[in-house]
Amino acid sequence: MVGKKIILAVTGSIAAYKAAHLVRLLVKNGAEVQVLMTPSATEFITPLTLSTLSKKPVFTQVIAEHEWNSHVELGLWADALVVAPATANSLAKLANGICDNIVSAVYLSARCPVFLAPAMDLDMWKHPSTQGNVQRLKSYGNHFLPVGYGELASGLVGEGRMAEPEEIATFLAAFFQKKQAFLGKKVLITAGPTYEAIDPVRFIGNRSSGKMGVAIAEQFAERGAEVTLVLGPSKLNPQHPNVTTVKVESAQQMYEASVKHFEKMDIAVLSAAVADYRPANVAEQKIKKKGEGMTIELEKTPDIAASLGKMKRKGQFIVGFALETNNELKNASEKLMKKNFDFIVLNSLQDAGAGFNFDTNKITILHRDNKRKDFELKTKAEVAVDIVDEVLAVL
Ligand code: PMT
Repeated sequence: MVGKKIILAVTGSIAAYKAAHLVRLLVKNGAEVQVLMTPSATEFITPLTLSTLSKKPVFTQVIAEHEWNSHVELGLWADALVVAPATANSLAKLANGICDNIVSAVYLSARCPVFLAPAMDLDMWKHPSTQGNVQRLKSYGNHFLPVGYGELASGLVGEGRMAEPEEIATFLAAFFQKKQAFLGKKVLITAGPTYEAIDPVRFIGNRSSGKMGVAIAEQFAERGAEVTLVLGPSKLNPQHPNVTTVKVESAQQMYEASVKHFEKMDIAVLSAAVADYRPANVAEQKIKKKGEGMTIELEKTPDIAASLGKMKRKGQFIVGFALETNNELKNASEKLMKKNFDFIVLNSLQDAGAGFNFDTNKITILHRDNKRKDFELKTKAEVAVDIVDEVLAVL
């Protein structure tokens, strides 16, 4: 954590006293810590204690004594924002975009990863309102430190204790370590559909949006990889500085771009829904309607995955995808072996919320030794984390 800039936002819970120990641990681990406090947090522990430990003034208001504490600058400065303790009230504000104190204002401005360590009484934690807010905050990509079980300030026993400062510091250190895991690695991703022209106005295509592949590209980029994304026709336009997007339209163009870049790559993830066939002849002019029917002769497109599988040299790693509607496991494991993938990600259109265009997906990862991992339905961003974690685990 040496040199990491961390904002510790303390909100009004009795667990605020643990913030002092957390600041000590973060500073000891080499982090630069800027403490923010909500007004009610200052009732539990003084700003003086936390500023002494962090060696920086503590901000408790956006505007204090005619001074403007720029929430935008703070949000951009940080490598991580940690809200510990995070009360039920603060979670509700953050989940709903309410912005009435320095903590909620910085949260909305922050571009860095956010970590939330809830602390509250057991019934407040179990309440559907709180759980709904937790789910919403998770869907925004925020990370939660699990609450502990034990005696609470009320004297009741149950879930709701804030994670211990040591656990929070370890979680953060592991996060930063994981974030660098693919530094120096080059990753090729294929994503989206392909369009195969019939004439200048019509094409054969499919329903892929590119969301799954773009999420994987962004996840590798987040962890330090240099990503080349070969993207078929899609509305998406990833902005991550580590992602270079090569836009293509047809299977042939996707094949040429992928083969060109693969040589230099360490890892390839082939999530594109590539047309298997294309019209054998593309009409130069718009085809006119005549007769009751028409036949289009199709020819095979190049199989990008199979070609890269053949080109693969020692040290290169390929993840394939299989989109199935029936005989899922059998079909996927045949593709895994035939195309020389290192593992394959199976998604089935039989599963509600999985496959094309949804923001969610449900996957099974199959390895060459028949080892298999089933995952529950998750957002595509979360699925991307699981896939990238699996690559890391195997490598
Ligand atoms: O883009 P989204 O809307 O988010 O949807 C995501 C997705 C459903 C497209 C994605 O999760 C997915 O399953 N992608 C693979 C779809 C597919 O075409 O699978 P397949 O079983 O037909 O192909 C097997 C593998 O060979 C895939 O890795 C595919 O990219 C590759 N392939 C196939 C044909 C071909 N000519 N070249 C290839 O590289």
